Formats: sequence, C-alpha cells, structure tokens
Amino acid sequence: MIALNKPLPPDLEKLNAYLVQVNDSSWYTNFGPLHEQLTKRLEAYLGVQNLLLVSNGTLALQVACKALNINSAITTPFSFVATTSSLLWQGIDMAFSDIDMNSYNLCPIALDDALQQNNNYDGVVATHVYGNPCDVNGIADVANKHNKKVIYDAAHAFGINVGEQSVLNFGDASTLSFHATKVFHTVEGGAIVFKHRTDFDKAKQLINFGIQADGSLGEPGINAKLNEYQCAVGLTLLDDIDGVIKHRAALFKIYTNELNGIVELPQWHAQANFNGAYMPIFIACVQKQQDVMQALAKNNIQCRRYFTPSLDLAYDQQKSFGCANSQKIAGGVICLPLHNFMSVNDVIAVTDVIKEVL
Ligand SMILES: Cc1ncc(COP(=O)(O)O)c(C=O)c1O
Repeated sequence: MIALNKPLPPDLEKLNAYLVQVNDSSWYTNFGPLHEQLTKRLEAYLGVQNLLLVSNGTLALQVACKALNINSAITTPFSFVATTSSLLWQGIDMAFSDIDMNSYNLCPIALDDALQQNNNYDGVVATHVYGNPCDVNGIADVANKHNKKVIYDAAHAFGINVGEQSVLNFGDASTLSFHATKVFHTVEGGAIVFKHRTDFDKAKQLINFGIQADGSLGEPGINAKLNEYQCAVGLTLLDDIDGVIKHRAALFKIYTNELNGIVELPQWHAQANFNGAYMPIFIACVQKQQDVMQALAKNNIQCRRYFTPSLDLAYDQQKSFGCANSQKIAGGVICLPLHNFMSVNDVIAVTDVIKEVL
C-alpha cells in the first residue's frame, strides 16, 4: 500500500537521552529547558524571532487572535477546517473572501473588494495552502490600505521562504502546526511567530492562564503550553529535517513533471521554495475525479479529497459569501500520497495510475 502520509518517527536513542534529562530535572512543562532549546533552534532554523511554542496549531490561531485583539476577521474559505472552526469557537465574527483560481490562496483583489463593502473587521486570516505562500505583498498592501492586522495560518509552510525571507515573517503573526502529520512535528504542537515582541509577551502570558511575569493576573488566559516530552520529540526530529524537506520537495517536483498537462496543479509562488508538504491535484470533471480515486484505491494507493467543503458553505452560515472559486476548487481537488518514506518508484506508480485513467 502507498499511504497518503507517514509521520516521522523520532530516533529512540536520541529521544531517550532527552527524556532522561527531563526525568532527572523533574521539569516536565511550564517553559522548561527543552522548551527553551527548541525555541532557539527553531528560530535559528526558520530565520525568525519571537517564536512562541504552543500545544497545537488550533490554539496557535486562537491565541494569535487574542493577542492581536482580533474579534472579527475576514478569512479564506479554502483551508483545513481548523482555520475557521478555531475562530468561530472563540466567538470571532467571521466573513469569507474568495481565493485566487491559480494559487488557491486568498485573493488580494477580492479581499480589497470585500473590505470596501464592509470595513468592519479587525483582521485578515489567510492560509498558505499546501505550503504555497499567499501573495504576501498584495495582501500587505490591502491590509495597510484598510488598516487591518494580518494573521497567516502557516500550518503547512514549515521551512518555506519568499525570496530570502521566511514566509513566517510576513503579517503581524504566523501560526504553525506541529501535528504528527506535518513536515516537522512534536506529535501535537505548534508555534506562533509574532512580528512585535510586545505581542509575543502578551501571548506568552495568555498561554499560561493569563499569569503575568510578576505573578499577578492579567487578561484571562488559557493553557496552551508545549510540554518537555513533546519538545524532546521536536529536538530529535529537527536534526534530520533538512534531508526530509529535500526528499519531499524532490518527490513533489517529480509528481509535478509527471502530471503537468494531465491534471491541473496550483501555481506555486514564483519566489518560494518547496517543502513537499502536500501533493494537490485538481480535476474539474466530477466523473473523472471519481474514476481517478477509484483506480487509486484499486491499486492500494491512498488519496484524500482535501480541502472540502469550501468553508463558506460550512456551519449553516446565514450569509452567502459568493466564493465561487473556492467552491470550484474544493469540488475537484485531491491530495496524493507524499511523505518522507516514499520512493521515486512510488510516485511513478501513482502517476501511472492517474495517466491511465485520464
Ligand atoms: C491549515 C491548518 N490550520 C490549522 C491546523 C490545526 O493544527 P493542529 O492540528 O495542530 O491543531 C491544521 C492542521 O492540521 C491545518 O492544516
């Protein structure tokens, strides 16, 4: 079987050495030494500052919104459900603006139109879908014009740069997920990268029940800390992450070459590198999409319709947001297997099946 995804297993010997340190120190959570080490190493690896580890990518979004005082947001309809469910759970008033048909990311022109019609939002929440960077300059122009804060859901964008700059350095904050299915993981986990140190400081209190540095209580907080055992997994996996990303990106390129002209593929940001986080393909014809999925299943190859439905259609929304592009893409997108343990032959086996059907 060719699995859709296979999480990275940490080297047990290395991991154990870290876990022994934790047991010896009896410091299991609450910003311990491994938390500090992982923070510093991730900041250096990713080329960012003000990185706050948190217990998952969902809480990362919620805490980022709280820290930036975002109580209403305009967001993308094409993302994993957590991008919007996390906001709704927090009572954030939400509207959708459509995506660009080429990149599948929030479209700056549609965003500008939406904000001209209704400027009543504190911020913009956009996802770098599949690790493909949004038009970060276009979104910055629109956000500046309308005086909006920007949060990027960068759950898929570990190790992605735009030019020389980490994609995480755009916007007021970027959130990461370190779920086991991601390129880099801590089993469960995540991080927020803040542009401003003051927002980082506020968020650090918020993820520790709102307790301030002097022990007094500030704004009500939550518990979203990453514990030392999970930091140990991160430190272990980080040693080999360059090789992992290189391999995944190489497989992504082979997929792209093999499938070019046979299926539609999202257009990648011209100045960005690849991390091989996902392998999305788009097949407009529903019958053909089903035929491909059936043929893959018959050949023991996993795939997933991902992301669907378009989120503007979820949760019994009262309003219609007119996100036709997102609805179209969500109707025809399929993610193919892509992970560190696949070989070039596995990729060719998948693309051969697709070519035979189409
Ligand atoms: C785009 C996106 N945002 C947010 C999340 C939520 O992350 P987590 O599973 O770490 O809570 C995911 C997770 O899988 C995701 O794909």
